[in-house]
Amino acid sequence: MLANRIEARPTSGAVGAEILGVDLSSGLNGSDVADLRAALNTYGVIFFRDQAISPEQHIAFAERFGTININRFFRAAPGYPQIAEVRKEPNQTTNIGGGWHTDHSYDQIPALGSILLAREVPPRGGDTLFASMSLAYEALSDGLKHTLQQLRAVHSSRHVFGAASQYVQDSDGRLGNSDKATQDASHPVIIRHPETGRKTLYVNPAFTLRFEGWTDAESKPLLDFLYAHASKPEFQTRFVWREGSIAFWDNRATWHLAVNDYHGERRLMHRITLDGVALE
Ligand code: SIN
Repeated sequence: MLANRIEARPTSGAVGAEILGVDLSSGLNGSDVADLRAALNTYGVIFFRDQAISPEQHIAFAERFGTININRFFRAAPGYPQIAEVRKEPNQTTNIGGGWHTDHSYDQIPALGSILLAREVPPRGGDTLFASMSLAYEALSDGLKHTLQQLRAVHSSRHVFGAASQYVQDSDGRLGNSDKATQDASHPVIIRHPETGRKTLYVNPAFTLRFEGWTDAESKPLLDFLYAHASKPEFQTRFVWREGSIAFWDNRATWHLAVNDYHGERRLMHRITLDGVALE
C-alpha cells in the first residue's frame, strides 16, 4: 500500500502495476519518489500513461532514482547521450530486444533498471512482455533451488554486441561500438534482490553463456529448462504502448521481450538505464 497520493494498480497476478495519480511533467516530491521505489520493488515493473515529457524531464525523472548509465551499444537520441534510442523503421524487419533478456547482466555491476518512454508507436503491436524472475524462482522445487543456490553463471556482451553477431549485422546501424563488447561477468544464479532481499533467478537467454566451471554443453540442458520454466505465461504481464507511456522495470527482478509484430510501421522508444549494485 502506498502512503501518499499515488495508486498502483496491478496489471497481472504476477508482475507489473500501472501507476495512477502522477504527472511526471510537474516533478516529484520526496514521498512520491519513495512510493514509486516501493511500487517498483513490489511489482518489478511500473507503468505510466499519457506522460507528455521532454527529454530533459525524462532525464530528471531517472536521476531521482539513481545515476544514469550511458549505453555503449545503442545509438543515442540526438543531443542526449543519456538516452538510448530503441528504434524500428518501416523498412526494417528485426527489432531491438526481441528475445527474453535482462539488460546489462554482462556487466560486473549490472544495471538497476531502465525507464522506457514511447515516442512513436505502431497502430497495433509492438507490445512488451515482462516476466517475474522472483516468481520463477519460487515455483522451482526445493531440490533444484538447492542445486542452483550453489552455482554462479557467466554472462557476456561479446556474442550479442560484438562485430560477428547477427543481431548487430541486422541492426542497420542501430547498434554500434562493437569493439566495446568486451564485458564478461559472473553472478550468482540465485541472487538476493539488493533492496527487498527476495530470492530471484538471475540467468537469461540473451547474455548468459554457461554455469561457472561447467562447459557450454553441460550447462545447456539446465539453462534450457530454466528458460522454458521462467517464460511461462503465469509469470508474465504484457504492456500495450501508447505514445507517452512509460515502463520502468527492475532488471534484477524481471526479464523483458519486445514483440516484433508490426512490420511496415515505425516504433521509436527512448530508454534511460540506471546504474545498479553488485549482486550477491
Ligand atoms: C529493451 O529491450 O530495452 C527494449 C524493450 C522494448 O522496446 O519494448
